[in-house]
Amino acid sequence: MVTKLKVGVLASGDGSNLQAIIDRSLSGDLLVEVVCVITNRSAAFALERAKKHGITAHYLDYRDFSGREAYDVALVALLRSHGVELVVLAGFMRIITRVLLNAFPLAVMNVHPALLPSFPGLDAQRQALDHGVKVAGCTVHFVDEGTDTGPIIIQAAVPVLSDDTVETLSGRILIQEHQAYPEAIRLFAQGRLKVEGRRVLISDEHHSPLAHASISLSKELKR
Ligand code: GRF
Repeated sequence: MVTKLKVGVLASGDGSNLQAIIDRSLSGDLLVEVVCVITNRSAAFALERAKKHGITAHYLDYRDFSGREAYDVALVALLRSHGVELVVLAGFMRIITRVLLNAFPLAVMNVHPALLPSFPGLDAQRQALDHGVKVAGCTVHFVDEGTDTGPIIIQAAVPVLSDDTVETLSGRILIQEHQAYPEAIRLFAQGRLKVEGRRVLISDEHHSPLAHASISLSKELKR
């Protein structure tokens, strides 16, 4: 029997990235199992998505804890109780602490809706539009103690069009997130990611659709 990597997903909102990861894991080519979903918002639709797929879902209310570290101690305990090996932040709107990072060294990932290191933090798509960039995109990276500063695993680019709004650009980027995040998780599950300083080296790189960033960009521009 093939052993699947146990993934715990932390989400605060709609959970479309969670859904993409679940869908890819069910299709069988990811070799991962989403074993739990944890949210800091009781109304997060991610909870419904988890339940629909029979995945244990937890709501952790920050008001029950004395501070960020105490919250993360509880998070770690929950993740460990499910045997989680990789923690996936998917729209988790909460700053995490060293407590979580030390418990899962180089095993916490995040997706950010910009081509880092440009436009870290909140409202990345608006930052990109306001700056007037012609190419935007998403970044999947390992999480470190900074805000969106960890080693970059995968990036995917999209064009910024003249009539874009934050909504249209976000939608175009989100489509790429749904491809890039499962792909980064697949590479992790296959043991193909090696972190050397700031660089994440991918073994056997031609077996990864990393090139899809430029391919999808040129397709969009031809429209
Ligand atoms: C995504 O755009 C992600 O990059 C950002 O938050 C959003 C989450 O979307 N961190 P969803 O909840 O996965 O639909």
